[in-house]
Amino acid sequence: MPALSQVRVEKKETIQIVQAVEVKAFKSKNGVFFLGDCLKAMQQLADDSITLAFTSPPYHNAINYEEHVEKLQGKKARWERKEVSYTEYRDFLIDRFRELLRITKPGGYNVVNIAPVGWNGTRVALPFHFVSWMESIGWKFCEDIIWEKPIAKDRRSGVLLQHPYPGYYYPSLVSEYVFVFQKAAEKENKENIYWHRSKEEKERNRIDLKDYQGEMSKNVWKIRPVAPQENIHPCAFPVELASRVIKFYSYKDDIVVDIFAGSGQTLLAAEMQGRKFIGMDTQKEYVDYALEKIKNIEGQQKLTD
Ligand SMILES: C[S@@+](CC[C@H](N)C(=O)[O-])C[C@H]1O[C@@H](n2cnc3c(N)ncnc32)[C@H](O)[C@@H]1O
Repeated sequence: MPALSQVRVEKKETIQIVQAVEVKAFKSKNGVFFLGDCLKAMQQLADDSITLAFTSPPYHNAINYEEHVEKLQGKKARWERKEVSYTEYRDFLIDRFRELLRITKPGGYNVVNIAPVGWNGTRVALPFHFVSWMESIGWKFCEDIIWEKPIAKDRRSGVLLQHPYPGYYYPSLVSEYVFVFQKAAEKENKENIYWHRSKEEKERNRIDLKDYQGEMSKNVWKIRPVAPQENIHPCAFPVELASRVIKFYSYKDDIVVDIFAGSGQTLLAAEMQGRKFIGMDTQKEYVDYALEKIKNIEGQQKLTD
């Protein structure tokens, strides 16, 4: 096992990673993507080293990513759900978000996109359970933002058209949650982790309030979802969702982490917003795809420099 000092995220916010254990690290100009279990990947990082994490965890057994990748590779015609017990799933998340708490700086943010899941014909209130799991391990709940998708993928609401009677109401599902959690600050009156940033730095990171009086000042964000033909991942979130989180909760050159990065939408948004990034995912297919997209953006940015 390499000495931890070799893989520390330095105070200066530069990312220095050497060959990690049980995970492979792929470097890009402004970040690194770990291929492997995010628990093992996070174990390579120092305590209190990052300011913002944004992710969308696997939604219980909604998608079997191994089989989805086999389908992408043409090895399977379709993928099947994998049965995982809810307790096992809870423990999986708790272990990983506890490790995330360790590597987050006091006052740092953990933003999570999550939605209820359908299981055996019922809707599981996953987001609400998730908040209590996070609180039980020490994350402080701060905000609940609703991501509203202007396009509904399902036809649930059609049931009432066929049976226009009480008890047949199944609204189309057009929303997901974006929960903001924070690690306890070092001092109670310094809850904004960025209180110490210089005037110049604040000016360099001034948020453009042009659109702010519209929907952005409210906790319902209307953002178009990613269409299947736009991304190989079965549940990629829009880059715009990640961009807003990054703009509101980090400064330029800070490190943004996505522990379940999939097709790398968070990393792409980080790159576009002038942040550094660390991504993690178990599927090589997604990692390769994400790195390719990031390389293209880096190329474009070089041309405009
Ligand atoms: C909901 S998806 C994230 C999609 C991503 N937000 C995007 O826009 O593409 C969850 C991801 O978690 C990954 N995953 C599952 N178990 C993991 C683990 N133990 N460590 C890291 N990633 C994992 C899956 O491969 C999947 O890509």
